[in-house]
Amino acid sequence: MMNHIDAINVFLSRLESNFCVTLPDARTIVEAFHREMSAGLAGKESSLQMIPSFVGRPCGAEKGRYLALDLGGTNIRVLAVELDGNRNAAIRAVSRFVIEQDKMCATGEELFDYIADCIHLFFKEHGVDVQRTFHLSFTFSFPVAQSSLTSGRLIAWTKKFTACNVEGQDVVALLTAALARRRMEFIRVAALANDTVGTLVAGSYFDPSCDMGVILGTGTNACYPERSDRILKCPEPGAPSEMIINMEWGGFSQLKTNIYDRLLDEASPNPGRQRLEKMVSGMYLGELARLIIVDMMTKGLLFCGVSPDVFSGQYLLHTEQLSGAAAGFDFFADFGLTDVSETDSRTIREISRIISARSARIAAAAIAAVVTWMDAKVERFHTIAIDGALFEKYPGYPDCMIEILHDLLGEGARRIRLAPVRDGSGIGSAIIGAVALHNHLERDVNN
Ligand code: BGC
Repeated sequence: MMNHIDAINVFLSRLESNFCVTLPDARTIVEAFHREMSAGLAGKESSLQMIPSFVGRPCGAEKGRYLALDLGGTNIRVLAVELDGNRNAAIRAVSRFVIEQDKMCATGEELFDYIADCIHLFFKEHGVDVQRTFHLSFTFSFPVAQSSLTSGRLIAWTKKFTACNVEGQDVVALLTAALARRRMEFIRVAALANDTVGTLVAGSYFDPSCDMGVILGTGTNACYPERSDRILKCPEPGAPSEMIINMEWGGFSQLKTNIYDRLLDEASPNPGRQRLEKMVSGMYLGELARLIIVDMMTKGLLFCGVSPDVFSGQYLLHTEQLSGAAAGFDFFADFGLTDVSETDSRTIREISRIISARSARIAAAAIAAVVTWMDAKVERFHTIAIDGALFEKYPGYPDCMIEILHDLLGEGARRIRLAPVRDGSGIGSAIIGAVALHNHLERDVNN
């Protein structure tokens, strides 16, 4: 008869093999990414949408003061950013607002009115004079089919957003209408960008070797500069030589899933979609852990004598708590659990490690896929601008990424630098605004 500790160890080693991404698995991910990237760029069926962003990398000489609006996974930020024209950017003013759940699920009109109110508050808080026209860059962290730098339809909500009457609509038009309802016609939307694009643009403004932007936060996604002649679905005569592609890699579907992934997906607001995101990003890692904890409690392997009902609420366990457990903090009190045994604490730390290691290995394999797509033998230096709490705060996460990059790419991995870029999406958005205005002025002069 197996004793209690043995039974826990057997469960954990099965869990580890169900969540493990071996080196051959990582190689399979790289190959599948290349196939899906190629199909997505050609406009064929693909789980990678490969969306043209209508902007390239900045030259570093962009200059001036710009306004940026950053709608992310959990908050809205309004920023005034100053660019010195010499690869330096400084945030001169910023206001941050939490987006409550009721706003994420409201009507589109209510959500965009709230966004306009946040902009209004920013102007009030920082005493900005509204006598002139302001050009605003809008970072919208969702999949948008862009038709130009200033227009694009929301394809589908992701993360916790479900606001109605927004999918299929032009989000710039929705923001412009909300600004008009609030009598703020003096604000013009100069550019629309995904947060990954903002991150890459900010990263490459500071460092010209930067050629990839990655978000590892509430959601996950990446972008990179693509040669225009490879973007087969959008042939643009006379287009600049490269354009940044928003990959929407959260949608990548060719991954091995386990029972917890399937349970999470079935109960999610978007079953069957965002498969990679559901295995990698911060919105979901806590939920995966919760499902495992409930399973272990039901089998009598964790918190003996406590009802699994303590963990019955969906998304009740947050990734920050899981990351705290990995860092040795006691998260049990949050769930009313006192006198937790050393074995229970160790089990939770193991669950945290197993889930985050898979997330980091998938993210790194995906980065390896994009780098080798751009530079098959990794002969050049690549700086990858990364924003998001998973990368910045989860104990051991970057090391786990670096390890698999080395296994996959050998010496080539030494030419890849994973660089955290704080506030990348907001600063990058302002730089995109500068590029947009410059292009606009140039067009006016040439016409
Ligand atoms: C969205 C992406 C976004 C990513 C990171 C995903 O859910 O689909 O557009 O870049 O989250 O915020």
